[in-house]
Amino acid sequence: MAKEIVLSGIRATGNLHLGNYYGALSKFVKMQEDYDSLFFIADLHALTTHPDPKTLHTNVKNIIAEYLAAGVDPDKATIFVQSDVPEISELYLLLNMHVGIGELMRTASFKDKARKALGIKTDKDEEDIEKEIIGNESNKRVNAGLLTYPTLMAVDILIQKANKVPVGKDQEQHLELTRRFARRFNSFYGVDLFPEPENFNFGGNAVKVPGLDGSGKMGKSEGNCIYLIDEEKVLRKKVMRAVTDEGPKVPNSPVSQPVENLFTLMELTSAPEVIQQYRDAYADCSIRYGDLKKQLAEDILKVTLPIRERILDIQNDDVLLARVIKQGADRARERAAKTLSEVREIMGIKKFY
Ligand code: ADP
Ligand code: TRP
Repeated sequence: MAKEIVLSGIRATGNLHLGNYYGALSKFVKMQEDYDSLFFIADLHALTTHPDPKTLHTNVKNIIAEYLAAGVDPDKATIFVQSDVPEISELYLLLNMHVGIGELMRTASFKDKARKALGIKTDKDEEDIEKEIIGNESNKRVNAGLLTYPTLMAVDILIQKANKVPVGKDQEQHLELTRRFARRFNSFYGVDLFPEPENFNFGGNAVKVPGLDGSGKMGKSEGNCIYLIDEEKVLRKKVMRAVTDEGPKVPNSPVSQPVENLFTLMELTSAPEVIQQYRDAYADCSIRYGDLKKQLAEDILKVTLPIRERILDIQNDDVLLARVIKQGADRARERAAKTLSEVREIMGIKKFY
């Protein structure tokens, strides 16, 4: 039987952090063993919020190096850059003809990014935010590329006919839209062309890696990240400065969000008995956050330092990077071209010559 197809990508907006690693990259490494896998760098998606020609290429290069350093193997998986596959851009145009602007405007990630771009406060209600986005006439702009972000992401997935898409929890709504677009296309044309993709988490729930600032998720734009490429000293400092609270005063107190965040990070990096020891210490009020943080930094470094060393080696190996990217682009393009020609045929776009 043919192997199931796995595809995932990360935007070229900066170095990768622990959220990207546990939400996406570490799953890529495991999945490449058993699936027909494609992993790419979403440089076109980066343009929706970071249109900076000075940094884009370096970001793409760094992320490829980070994929390889984390263990994505070009002999097992196809590694490519989104813009190397122009078929994606053409299918993006075609699929947009079946996507409603209303459903795009209601997407949580769009509203969030548009709100940030225009500096609209979070305390307004949804309807007012939507009105401000549409009515905005300042020179700050929410570009149409940001609105159609989910179409482009759906195309990345559908053009490779992927079945499984390993991503973090924040991407689930985009996957839901991808399934909806696939169903809609199939039923509109009466075909069975696109499979409906699903997230993949090795049986567990989608992960959300928290930040060190006590707030929600770790993210590049939140300034609360531990990067895979962080130096040892920098990383220790970040962890030691993580937000906590005054400590439990009575036994078995509920754990506050900032401290729970540190436990969540421990769940990802530390041994179960170590975590239990700190949970017990919290319960009987003997916990010292300084010790917990030292332990956490130690355990994170065990994961990130070997990756960091490999990133530094690979980043300077232009010959290796070019070979990997060329090989990946050729493979990805061949498959994408096949799907695109099927779609053109189905939609009635035919050549006269
Ligand atoms: P960022 O939010 O830092 O800009 P991206 O949006 O480029 O990162 O995300 C790339 C991948 O990493 C996606 O699959 C996303 O779900 C995952 N990811 C990003 N941040 C986290 C996080 N804090 N927890 C879990 N997964 C995450
Ligand atoms: N939207 C994803 C993110 O922000 C990146 C992405 C673009 C992606 N195209 C994709 C992920 C296709 C999985 C499959 O993280």
